[in-house]
Amino acid sequence: FLCVYAVIRYSSTINHSLNVPFRWRSTAAAAAIAKPSTQHDPQSQENRKPKTGILMLNMGGPEKLDDVHDFLFRLFMDRDLMTLPVQNKLGPFIAKRRTPKIQEQYSKIGGGSPIKKWTTMQGEGMVKLLDEMSRETAPHKFYIGFRYVHPLTESAIEEMERDGVERAVAFTQYPQYSCSTTGSSLNAIYRYYSDRGERPKMRWSVIDRWPTHPLLIELCTATLILSSPNMSCLYLQVVNRGDPYPQEVGATVQRVMERLQHCNPYRLVWQSKVGPMPWLGPQTDEVIKGLCQRGKKNILLVPIAFTSDHIETLHELDIEYSQVLGEECGVENIRRAESLNGNPLFFKALADLVHSHLRSNEPCSRQLTLRCPLCVNPTCGQAKAFFANQKL
Ligand code: FES
Repeated sequence: FLCVYAVIRYSSTINHSLNVPFRWRSTAAAAAIAKPSTQHDPQSQENRKPKTGILMLNMGGPEKLDDVHDFLFRLFMDRDLMTLPVQNKLGPFIAKRRTPKIQEQYSKIGGGSPIKKWTTMQGEGMVKLLDEMSRETAPHKFYIGFRYVHPLTESAIEEMERDGVERAVAFTQYPQYSCSTTGSSLNAIYRYYSDRGERPKMRWSVIDRWPTHPLLIELCTATLILSSPNMSCLYLQVVNRGDPYPQEVGATVQRVMERLQHCNPYRLVWQSKVGPMPWLGPQTDEVIKGLCQRGKKNILLVPIAFTSDHIETLHELDIEYSQVLGEECGVENIRRAESLNGNPLFFKALADLVHSHLRSNEPCSRQLTLRCPLCVNPTCGQAKAFFANQKL
């Protein structure tokens, strides 16, 4: 159910031709990184009375094994993400059935997802910079709005309203837009108000995509880090109704490779296929096998669509593919590029995105106003109108 998008680059001389830090993570190393931190609780943001609130949107991940079931339950019940027949019954059934397997995966990466820890660190770094860069919109405060685990988007909005925020920015942490990720979070914000029959007291705007932001590309090319949690169930059904995600991921990859002057050949591949539904391909594991059969045995995996480590990097890429599958296929070298996580340049990228957005005085991107040509979810249209019609 979780799709990370990996770019695969391969060359027999990759270690010599790329002067960039690679990391091969052992399970123990992954576990150490995955330990959730309690040091960075957004509640501790010096109880500031913020003028501008930045809501960092993401799907989130279970912090501990006991949270896995509720995470899966919310995920399989999210109709903006997927529609299942008799979802009220089938969703809980699948969540319950998958819980032990997913718990096992999380236990191998230290017992929980590190996403809250990283998002908190990124939010703190971003807000500190923003207070210096943009005095007129200060003080700034960040809020975390996860879709499937606490802190949930709805509680974050409540907190923002309680704090008396004047200007609210919904900031997706997915660089590339998909209706099943960012779209789902934006629909949740719209529903928060429509379900209560309330109007927001805050003026909302949204940073809905940033696939080619110069600092993002610089980060990827300078350190070969890229990523962003989450997921998106990229069934072909989603793509075929007109979702912009594959094109935006391709745009990021193209910019990165241009900056690297195409130093190695590469392919954009997709990850995390589950279930019998047709999925966007080619799949990363099949590509690794195919490359090995064709004598390409030095492979670098670059998670391109996530900003922090998560189960797909720490378990799927590092353990399932790099260790188990790599050995089976006779790979000589398989590495994964490090995720952005706590990189200070990434904090700067986030601050720059918000700063430019606030100065633009635009409620959202032009792209956000267009529904997928084959969309059948009326909430999408209402949520888009909600953001596009905000008076800033
Ligand atoms: S599914 Fe894309 S706008 Fe509704």
